[in-house]
Amino acid sequence: MTESDLIPDLPESNFPEIEDHQDGPEGRFSHVPVLASEVVAALAPAPGKVYVDGTLGGAGHTRLLLEAGAAVYGIDQDPFALERAREAGLAGLTVLEGNYRDMAALLAGAGVTHVDGVLLDIGVSSFQLDDGGRGFSYHTDAPLDMRMSQSGESAYDVVNGYEEAELASIIYEYGEDRLSRRIARGIVYAREQAPIESTVRLAEIIKRAYPGFSKGIHPARRTFQALRIHVNDELGALRDGLSAASSLLAPGGRLAVISFHSLEDRIVKRFLLGDESLTPLTKRPVIAAESEQASNPRARSAKLRAAEKKASAQESV
Ligand SMILES: C[S@@+](CC[C@H](N)C(=O)[O-])C[C@H]1O[C@@H](n2cnc3c(N)ncnc32)[C@H](O)[C@@H]1O
Repeated sequence: MTESDLIPDLPESNFPEIEDHQDGPEGRFSHVPVLASEVVAALAPAPGKVYVDGTLGGAGHTRLLLEAGAAVYGIDQDPFALERAREAGLAGLTVLEGNYRDMAALLAGAGVTHVDGVLLDIGVSSFQLDDGGRGFSYHTDAPLDMRMSQSGESAYDVVNGYEEAELASIIYEYGEDRLSRRIARGIVYAREQAPIESTVRLAEIIKRAYPGFSKGIHPARRTFQALRIHVNDELGALRDGLSAASSLLAPGGRLAVISFHSLEDRIVKRFLLGDESLTPLTKRPVIAAESEQASNPRARSAKLRAAEKKASAQESV
């Protein structure tokens, strides 16, 4: 079997430049793992192999690795996700709390220095979006929080404490919203009247910055995405996590990364091309088949890239 047999080299389709998971009730997803068979093909799990799932979430992908007879170290920074995983009591799964950017240290703590594969399925989970109290969604009124780990600076701190220019740059950079300055001005004006405490109030403030908005994609979508990325340092974690994953892979080990918007995919693509110890397995990102896109809205914006650790450091020079 050749590598091109292994992972279908699907053409890039009409992948939206920006799409997050917050596009209405129908856009909410379950923890059905995206690109499941493609991930299994990329990681090639088998009895005796050891994997890191850096984004354990609802353990959808992990279950597939376990079913193939592999052992999995599942990492998540969300204490609620970890609690659910522990309750599930899956044989072969070791649950580790932390940020996947620290996976090398977390695995070393468990006595593991090399693994046969690493999976990152980045972003928020259905549980996080649907949990009304977490503040990830502008559809549900909740305190502005958005912290996956429940620690550090929250969205409330950012929205109510940052300078206008800082807010504008976060909204522009991570939300790619061309009205970022106007939105930031609106936020600063509104918080001078009273602190912005809830998701719905913030969404209303953003809506007012969009002249003539009546229907279509909610104007708050990009700003919520931007705040979530900033609060959780998602792009920084991804950069660190990719390096950590590469260093953990044994020769022949596989790395598979699923991303959901262009900012993330760009980082993954550049990393896989730039790390000389890896051989990319996907020339172009693998996207979900139409049937999966129809049944799972989250799959519509998913892109999978994979790579294999070269046999020796010698070969990577
Ligand atoms: C999209 S979900 C993963 C879903 C999972 N693959 C499944 O099939 O059920 C992403 C999960 O990764 C976690 N996560 C996101 N960024 C993380 C990070 N930097 N470190 C650790 N966990 C992270 C989130 O808390 C969330 O539970």
